[in-house]
Amino acid sequence: MSIYFPSRLLAGSAALILVAGSVLAQTGVKIGYALAPNSHYGVAAEKWDEVVTAETDGKFDFKHFPSSGLGGEREVIEGLQIGTVEATIVSSGTLANFVPETGVFDIPFLFRDLDHARGVLDGPIGAEILAKFDNVGLHALAWGEQGFRHITNNRNPISTPEDVKGLKIRTMENPVHLKAFNTLGAAPTPMAWPEVISSLQQGVIDGQENPLSVIVSVKLDEVQKYLTLSGHVYSPAMLLVSKPFWDGLSDADKAAFEKGATEAVVAMRGFVDDVETDGVATLKERGMEVGELSTEEKAAFQQAVQGAYESYYDMYDKDLIERIIAAE
Ligand code: PAF
Repeated sequence: MSIYFPSRLLAGSAALILVAGSVLAQTGVKIGYALAPNSHYGVAAEKWDEVVTAETDGKFDFKHFPSSGLGGEREVIEGLQIGTVEATIVSSGTLANFVPETGVFDIPFLFRDLDHARGVLDGPIGAEILAKFDNVGLHALAWGEQGFRHITNNRNPISTPEDVKGLKIRTMENPVHLKAFNTLGAAPTPMAWPEVISSLQQGVIDGQENPLSVIVSVKLDEVQKYLTLSGHVYSPAMLLVSKPFWDGLSDADKAAFEKGATEAVVAMRGFVDDVETDGVATLKERGMEVGELSTEEKAAFQQAVQGAYESYYDMYDKDLIERIIAAE
């Protein structure tokens, strides 16, 4: 495995390695992701690489581009479509621009807890949506995870919907999230992730929202004062490869990539479980002021976004939304 940081962007696509005295041609796999190696994306990418390498006797040479080294998530997915990037792990941020149905999982307060979300994504509904990526130049191997999203900001502590009124909050480039924050009366700005930290530093935005896995690994405490454990929406992730790349693989190689993706998701969820356990204490130690919405306060937020549901029912099949809510 090689790690390329943004300043060292010069990957070739094939290499030769010497194994037991014979020369073996290696196929390069550029894998891009938004977060650092010591994040849930980093551990998943490393596991994916490790399993594929073991299963194929080193036939593939993964070149890692962490920390948005290949650009924002939308750019990386477009790279997969045209075959300039082979693999990625991304949030659901821009996925609905490629497969609109993906956005159904971004509806606020849809999932009760991590088990509910994992059960739906690993079941027939999740599989149905993964299969749609083959129609748009991509091949989706598995649903990963970031955790539930929480709000951070520099303006004020948040415990009621009133507290987010007029808050300049960055959202992902995702119509479902944008609708929710507009409905709450905030002033949301959709923005690609690589611009977020500097926009927070310059005060262009007051806040952002992301799961603990991101808040801790990116050290958002360095640029944000308040953390509100709102858990307003579950944040899935996805392991994707380029369709042109996928179509060129043998069945055995495809099986290796599938096995690697399955194990990567286990590693990723393990990382999320750990950070859900100790992330709040870490952020408090680093000086963040942390507040958790009580059940009643959360219910008030749920009530305040109800108005957005009518447009969600226009965007997505109401039966599908109800099937997800009813899933055990
Ligand atoms: O907020 C986002 O855009 C995503 O959650 C992030 C941090 C890029 C991880 O995919």
